[in-house]
Amino acid sequence: MRKIGKVKTGWKLPILPLPVCLLGAHVKGKPNFNTIVWFNMLHGNPPLIGVTMSKMHYTNQGIKENKSFSINIPTSEMVVVTDYCGLHSGSKVDKSKEFTLFYGELKTAPMIKECGINIECRLVNTIDFKKTELFIGEIVEIYSDDNYVKEESPDVKDFDSFIFLMPNGPYQKIGDYLAESYEVGTSYKPKK
Ligand SMILES: Cc1cc2nc3c(=O)[nH]c(=O)nc-3n(C[C@H](O)[C@H](O)[C@H](O)COP(=O)(O)O)c2cc1C
Repeated sequence: MRKIGKVKTGWKLPILPLPVCLLGAHVKGKPNFNTIVWFNMLHGNPPLIGVTMSKMHYTNQGIKENKSFSINIPTSEMVVVTDYCGLHSGSKVDKSKEFTLFYGELKTAPMIKECGINIECRLVNTIDFKKTELFIGEIVEIYSDDNYVKEESPDVKDFDSFIFLMPNGPYQKIGDYLAESYEVGTSYKPKK
């Protein structure tokens, strides 16, 4: 193993690969999408997702107005339009016309057909920070590309999504297979 050195960096965003989503909401009766990397599963039962967004974003208004939003995971061929949605505000451009939309049970959580996974969420809590807010959504339904739904575990290559390397990118395709989870550790020999 290489000799590991450590450097204190003080507070700045750490280098961390994060999944990317297009978050959808209706704002003033119209679908809008923005690009978000600060989101994660928070709980399994009930199934909760948390999303942290700057209060300046147009989409926030819609989430609060309708108490609903969607998380759409773009495929790697959608990288350009995904970046576009993170560069322009729905207060100035109509981003909804870039996608084929569909709806589930909640009529105000627009979802993107071209994305591999769509997660329909009902807003259950909002935590207010000074400049941002953390929206907590309960998952109402998940729509998956039929390519992904198989008897065996999904192959990450079928998934064909991408990650964002915080703090400033780039976007990267998801890498190679490494090992079976909840299994590979069973062969580990703890140190004496
Ligand atoms: C790669 C990338 C990741 C982003 N992640 C977030 C995020 O996690 N939270 C956030 O508040 N804004 C994030 N943004 C910024 C918003 O997507 C951007 O300001 C967008 O234009 C807001 O759109 P809206 O005003 O239509 O809501 C990200 C932008 C990019 C390009």
